[in-house]
Amino acid sequence: MTNQLTRHKQEIRKQNVFYPNRISADLILGSANFPSNHAWSKSSIIPKVGVLFVVICFLLYVLWGTLDVTIADCTECNFSDETVHARLNESYLVCNEVPADHRVFVHDRALRDYQALPMIYFVTPTYPRREQIPELIRLAYTLLHVPRIHWILANDLKACNAYIDGLLKRFDLETKVRFAHHSFILGLPFTHLASPMPEFYRRKKPMPRGVANRRAAIQWLRQRNITNGILYFGDDDNTYDLKLFSEIRDTQRVSMFPVGLIEEYSVSGPVVRKGKVVGFLDSWVAERRWPVDMAGFATNLAYMAEYPNASMPYKPGYEEDLFLRSIRLNLNIIEPKANNCTEILVWHTQTKNRERTTLRISNKYLDDRSNLGTLIKSLDVMGIANSSDNEGRRAVISKNGKAKPLSYFLS
Ligand code: UGA
Ligand code: MN
Repeated sequence: MTNQLTRHKQEIRKQNVFYPNRISADLILGSANFPSNHAWSKSSIIPKVGVLFVVICFLLYVLWGTLDVTIADCTECNFSDETVHARLNESYLVCNEVPADHRVFVHDRALRDYQALPMIYFVTPTYPRREQIPELIRLAYTLLHVPRIHWILANDLKACNAYIDGLLKRFDLETKVRFAHHSFILGLPFTHLASPMPEFYRRKKPMPRGVANRRAAIQWLRQRNITNGILYFGDDDNTYDLKLFSEIRDTQRVSMFPVGLIEEYSVSGPVVRKGKVVGFLDSWVAERRWPVDMAGFATNLAYMAEYPNASMPYKPGYEEDLFLRSIRLNLNIIEPKANNCTEILVWHTQTKNRERTTLRISNKYLDDRSNLGTLIKSLDVMGIANSSDNEGRRAVISKNGKAKPLSYFLS
């Protein structure tokens, strides 16, 4: 769990600083280490170098055979077609699919007024941690204001989470039933997937966050032959301006726009000149051709369908770049949005992650004599906190500023 909580782009950044002048720097260092007037004569160097070469080759050969050789994240490698086109074959579960929009109004308009708009497929990877449910509730309430949207919520878990399923349905049918007399009926179309990250990648440091989920969502779209509409990767912890949705909705091929609060510059996005994207402002270049954040672009599904090998490889830090390479993006076709990339309509907000809490509270008091039993049980199903008779932080109950034993209230 703690592994999951570390911010991986920052980790990669530390491991993998980009030196634009690295080659020339190496040359300078090299010449300093081996001055031309070295004590060794040329004839004595050659056999020594030869022996050294053979020894190094032998060592490398032995290492190759005994170690699990993995290619580290590199700033200097060219990605093979195989990496770029890593085939999609995720195993995922479809927990629930509700394609119908049960809302009657969105903003001040009846739902049918929006029928002609292209659908936005909003793909959200999510994973179990203490903050998951509050993040999803916040995002759900944003999406409820967006017409013609289908929320693909892909959870990084082997099984379907019944609580999340209930939550999504609450945004759908139950809400309609409960608040049927109100005009602001909710009822978002959604698909709930269980798309666990393969164990192999979970053990990696850094690990590719949210990739299995996005790959599963792409597969889901493909399996249903959905080649109309807009694909957008919206993480569960970002902040979305409603204007973003009307901006990306008319994406013809690939649109791009700035994302606020990214790393050292506090922003990442295209540089636009005369209405054209000419470069990128992002503090982590690392030889990425498309140094953009996941939330900084949208893709038209008809355009994507032209590239049957479109994929997102498990390559930490390079997910966006390699996805955009897999759909053969080129600079000329990028559509700048957000008023020629002058406005920030999406923010890379990050919630502080903390370990799930254990409350020390005697189980004998967690019954229906008070609200506490139900309250703590619900925190437990949400993955936020649990209770224990003898472990964790003592739960202090007070009255008039004084701590009291639970027996005081409940006996
Ligand atoms: C940044 C980018 O904004 C992400 O779009 C990108 O996926 C990520 O880096 C990356 O390059 O891997 P960051 O805030 O560092 O995101 O990462 P998180 O927000 O923790 O994770 C990104 C998404 O993946 C979230 O929606 C999160 O819920 C999900 N995730 C994370 C999982 O599904 N499983 C995990 O184990 C961790
Ligand atoms: Mn995030």
